[in-house]
Amino acid sequence: MSFFSRSPQPASPIDDLAPSDVLISLHQLEKSYALGASRSWVLRRITLDIKEGEFVSIMGPSGAGKSTLLHILGMHDSAWTGEYYFGGQPVHRLSAKDRAALHKKWIGFVFQSYHLLDHLTVYENLDVPLSYRDIKKAERDSMVCDILDRFAIVGKKDLYPNQLSGGQQQLVAVARAVIANPKIILADEPTGNLHSSQGREIMELFRKLNEGGTTIVQVTHSEANAEYGSRVIELKDGWLVGAPTA
Ligand SMILES: Nc1ncnc2c1ncn2[C@@H]1O[C@H](COP(=O)(O)OP(=O)(O)OP(=O)(O)O)[C@@H](O)[C@H]1O
Ligand SMILES: [Mg+2]
Repeated sequence: MSFFSRSPQPASPIDDLAPSDVLISLHQLEKSYALGASRSWVLRRITLDIKEGEFVSIMGPSGAGKSTLLHILGMHDSAWTGEYYFGGQPVHRLSAKDRAALHKKWIGFVFQSYHLLDHLTVYENLDVPLSYRDIKKAERDSMVCDILDRFAIVGKKDLYPNQLSGGQQQLVAVARAVIANPKIILADEPTGNLHSSQGREIMELFRKLNEGGTTIVQVTHSEANAEYGSRVIELKDGWLVGAPTA
């Protein structure tokens, strides 16, 4: 089933994605930071397609640019050059407002450092992505209770992030990314702080979501986690390994 048929009444251009097999298309994408009089390059000439329904793992050494690339895909970062099409929408030409709307509507993001909202409880953090959608409060409550149950964190629902262990924060961060049934999940080392059995559960969850049609892009250092995916993209010093560098 194609996800593109899910939007019966488009309210703005970003609600309506072009029907295409390719969900993400990058052309000559580059990012650099000013370093004195010169520049320090973090991503070089990234040209890449990710098809709808793929489960991709981004791998590579520390500092290779994996998180940077994922943040660009997640539309948190707009300081780059090149072209990025998401569902046919030219992200590189969108206003900040449309970009944020596109992100909120279609993307679930798991940050490497969790980024839970400190002033909100676990329950409230999980409700945030639902609040962006047109979902009634009673249904939202039931979805939050459901996911708390599924992740075995019901007992933590009224605690604030700083009252949780690192692994528990990571579980909440994954739960928050999947709760609104996004079109694509972008996950930055989503099991880095979990016990191996919990890590496997998260990977099994991703596998199930992927079988249900959700596109998944994960950054991982783990060969075992990469096994869950269908393709590995390797980055080194900002370059896609195997792509021409000349
Ligand atoms: N504000 C900045 N100014 C200059 N360089 C930066 C800045 N932010 C990040 N970088 C550089 O960008 C490069 C890529 O960082 P990134 O976080 O994407 O790496 P990564 O592949 O995710 O590594 P890890 O596996 O350790 O998470 C690093 O060399 C880092 O020093
Ligand atoms: Mg990283």
